[in-house]
Amino acid sequence: MTTKGQAPPENVLEVDDLWIEFRGGRRRAWSSRSVVRAVSGASLRLERGRTLGLVGESGSGKTTIGRAVLRLNTPKQGSITAAGFRVDHFRGAPPAGYRRAVQAVFQDPLGSLDPLMEVRQILAEPLRIHFDLDAGQRRARVRELLEMVGLSSAHLTRYPYELSGGQRQRVAIAKALAVDPQLVVLDEPVSALDVSVQSQIINLLDDIQRDRGISYLFIAHDLAVVRHASHEVAVMYRGRIMESGPADRVCGSPRHPYTRLLFDAAPNPVPRSMRPAHRARRFDLPLPEIGVDPTPAGCPFITRCPLRTAECATGFPTPTPVPAGGEIACFAADRVLKTTEIPTAPTKDAT
Ligand SMILES: Nc1ncnc2c1ncn2[C@@H]1O[C@H](COP(=O)(O)OP(=O)(O)OP(=O)(O)O)[C@@H](O)[C@H]1O
Ligand SMILES: [Mg+2]
Repeated sequence: MTTKGQAPPENVLEVDDLWIEFRGGRRRAWSSRSVVRAVSGASLRLERGRTLGLVGESGSGKTTIGRAVLRLNTPKQGSITAAGFRVDHFRGAPPAGYRRAVQAVFQDPLGSLDPLMEVRQILAEPLRIHFDLDAGQRRARVRELLEMVGLSSAHLTRYPYELSGGQRQRVAIAKALAVDPQLVVLDEPVSALDVSVQSQIINLLDDIQRDRGISYLFIAHDLAVVRHASHEVAVMYRGRIMESGPADRVCGSPRHPYTRLLFDAAPNPVPRSMRPAHRARRFDLPLPEIGVDPTPAGCPFITRCPLRTAECATGFPTPTPVPAGGEIACFAADRVLKTTEIPTAPTKDAT
């Protein structure tokens, strides 16, 4: 929030009206290939030095947005400006400046760390690509990076498989930090870790942010994790941003009927990637489908929303500001905003 006379805070990430589709597989031999609308008209803002949490059930489109920011998929429509680069304008390989400025950490560091490299080689590689350092300077920088993520020189000659899950994620974070990024996309960075290790890693990310002013796009399915790790939160459902705003307001006093349901339903919708392949449950909400078909243009939550009206099938609502901060995309906004506010519990901004 800015006060009069101050310059508005700078956004390190701006996503505007983003649409991303995938060609789906054929359901039946005789049917045509379906189109999966993974992201429909999403807009996001992330201020420098802050964390935006992106939360929602499995398949809601969180990873698809993260990958678009990283230029790992191509939007059908919309704009993405990350660290000053118009990502959606790139044709071919992104410029080196962008590759330095925007980094990523994924859920499974074993997948992103070369198994045949020792930690010191893993960390030296980005330094070699992006900076003109001699061998001695590079060694010093590698030690500095390890220290920054709470590891020691004892880990220099380890291979990824010799490390614990938490230590591997620390190495993945150090590798991302090696090039001095402005923005790090963290896609389920703690989902594979034990709860006690999860908070260590979140605290580490927090310390790094404080020291270096880095911004995070923090993707997670776990509401408690997102709440703890984020300044702002955006809630997704079937490709749409349903609600967004300050983490303490969204998590402590959710306004959108979907968000309320998500928070009531609670704790932990399990991401698809962590479920047994057979019988993946797509939705973890208690409210049953009510026999209303969602329309492509309409609100996707119409199938289970207790407040739906005929209007909800006609289009997707323009977001309405919430007095306590942020906004909701709901045709029933005037009704839901009249209900009493629920008291908030502490989040990242309150600490
Ligand atoms: N490469 C792809 N090809 C086809 N469909 C895809 C592809 N990637 C994602 N999808 C589909 O797009 C939708 C959004 O997927 P996405 O992985 O972004 O969800 P998510 O919110 O990250 O879910 P999770 O919590 O399980 O990680 C899903 O319906 C998914 O099946
Ligand atoms: Mg995902």
